Amino acid sequence: MNGAALERAWLPDLTAAIAGLYPDDVDTVVDRLVERARRAADERSAALRARDQERLVDPGWYQSNERVGYMAYLDRFAHSLRDVDRRIPYLRELGIDTLHFLSVLRPREGESDGGYAVRDYLTPDPRVGTTADLLRMIGQLHDNGIDVSLDFVLNHTSDDHEWAIAARNGSSYHQALYRLFPDRTAPDQWETSLPEVFPDMAPGNFTWNDELGRWVWTTFREFQWDLDYSNPDVLVEMAGIALALANYGVDILRLDAIAFTWKRLGTNCQNQPEAHLIAQALRATVAMAAPATILLAEAIVGPADLLGYLGRHDLERRECELAYHNQLMVQSWSMIATRRSDLARRALSQLPDPPARSTWFTYVRCHDDIGWAIDDADAAAVGVTGAGHRSFLAEFFRGDFPTSFARGTPFGVTVGDERTSGMASTLAGIEAARRAGDAAALARAIDRVVLLYAIAFGWGGIPIVYMGDELCQGDDRSWADDPDRHHDSRWAHRPMFDEQLAALRTETSTITGQVWSRLRHLIDVRRASGVFDDVGAVARPFDAGNEHVFGWHRIHPRWGSMIGLANVGETAATVVQRPADLVHDVQHDLLAPDDRDPWLLRPLQVRWLASPGPLPTSPRSR
Ligand code: GLC
Ligand code: GLC
Repeated sequence: MNGAALERAWLPDLTAAIAGLYPDDVDTVVDRLVERARRAADERSAALRARDQERLVDPGWYQSNERVGYMAYLDRFAHSLRDVDRRIPYLRELGIDTLHFLSVLRPREGESDGGYAVRDYLTPDPRVGTTADLLRMIGQLHDNGIDVSLDFVLNHTSDDHEWAIAARNGSSYHQALYRLFPDRTAPDQWETSLPEVFPDMAPGNFTWNDELGRWVWTTFREFQWDLDYSNPDVLVEMAGIALALANYGVDILRLDAIAFTWKRLGTNCQNQPEAHLIAQALRATVAMAAPATILLAEAIVGPADLLGYLGRHDLERRECELAYHNQLMVQSWSMIATRRSDLARRALSQLPDPPARSTWFTYVRCHDDIGWAIDDADAAAVGVTGAGHRSFLAEFFRGDFPTSFARGTPFGVTVGDERTSGMASTLAGIEAARRAGDAAALARAIDRVVLLYAIAFGWGGIPIVYMGDELCQGDDRSWADDPDRHHDSRWAHRPMFDEQLAALRTETSTITGQVWSRLRHLIDVRRASGVFDDVGAVARPFDAGNEHVFGWHRIHPRWGSMIGLANVGETAATVVQRPADLVHDVQHDLLAPDDRDPWLLRPLQVRWLASPGPLPTSPRSR
């Protein structure tokens, strides 16, 4: 497909989005964006154009069952861009083909919210290398069959970004890129309906800047200046950056904090319709020049707001191809705490199916805290209250509930909205069991880690391993004594890659060896089974007739169906009810093919059941 054809294919999407955002200025803004896309298309390398062609003929490439992701802080995992090649064999051994590196682009000097206050979007952090190193690394990963995802922090820049500096030096063009206020009148009005993302570290949503003599809108930390997308210059500038990153070879642009990009007085300024239009406009602009690059929404929002980021509105739109399935994540943790599946079943069955060309990023842990996104109506439907259950989860994972096995750390302690930090291993009970020297509790904790991953790996979408979980790495305790990190407990789950643990991965007598081999097994089975392919597939929970068993049913039009069963209870459980539309009554467990009764589960066991016969294989074996 040539550039003109791509432009024609995406122009209606772009025009519709811009008409919604800037009704008085549609033609000019569309022209400016198309102009940026044309320039980027001209500059695109031959290698990336070849990638574009491959993906245009295989538009479901990111929906393949062979996809398995890994996310890591570049410096904490590999030290530097040049050292990443040493880690490629490790990633291949684990079965990874999609890599999300955090904290690559040049952050603010000093504290930078873990790299999320970006000073320069187009060069890497000098501590990890140069732009040439970045391009070489992306090329090397591509040559090894690994796609690259980077953060595109588009809601805010750091306060030492050149635009912020120019704004402080009096440039009116640059001042207009941000949201600045001469006095408290407007900020006070906005504050009446704005929540606080970092209530402890950065109370309020506005920061006084002496040099400007103005209040600056700062949703996150005081050094992260929110951009003003009601000014089309912001969108045009940021689209230019997205195109440049796509031309570096970034396969997946992670739209950081996309939910926050549009502000509307009297609302919580999240999930506004215009935030979706911004994503749609970026989608169309990038697609015109770099069709190999897709978008991942980082919208850690309640279930009712989630599907919009995949383009599901009154009518479907082309928006992000991927979004974090934070509801599956939260519900999975909730299930292991309560040992019940009813709330998860209810919440997940309320979610509409993702539009055809989109899918989930499924995960157990990431670099952020867990916010307990339990919907009030879902909670009420199973006889609890939303607030009550949210505070139960915070207490449970902090380790303060009588039956708790977790030893997490609170984050953002505001009454009613305490969130949780900690590695999967700490939250699943490894640490508590170890300290108690309780072998049975330890075995259960390992089973919990595997259960959580088996749900994420078996639901569909691109499952993500969070660095360290494959080794069952525990929390990093050093954050509490570091003046730059001690106020942000998220550093508890951002450890350095542990070489010594990694060396134990093949020793199956160790905790690390067990978790590693069991996760590897999940990955191998998934990669070999076309039922996990997502093109045209749906996944829905079903009632297994046993409160301890979480059941889900995947139906793929070409590769058949798969029934996932997770016994979140701590005693054996039998499935007494099967999905209503089950075609084959005879099933066997892809994970334990020799087991005779697939409907009976050990405590904390997960089964992936398929109809017998030749294993349906993947359409895209490499
Ligand atoms: C995202 C990041 C988080 C960061 C925030 C502000 O949600 O995942 O780590 O603090 O955005 O950029
Ligand atoms: C909230 C936000 C998310 C952010 C996180 C940081 O969950 O929705 O964007 O990264 O807080 O802790």
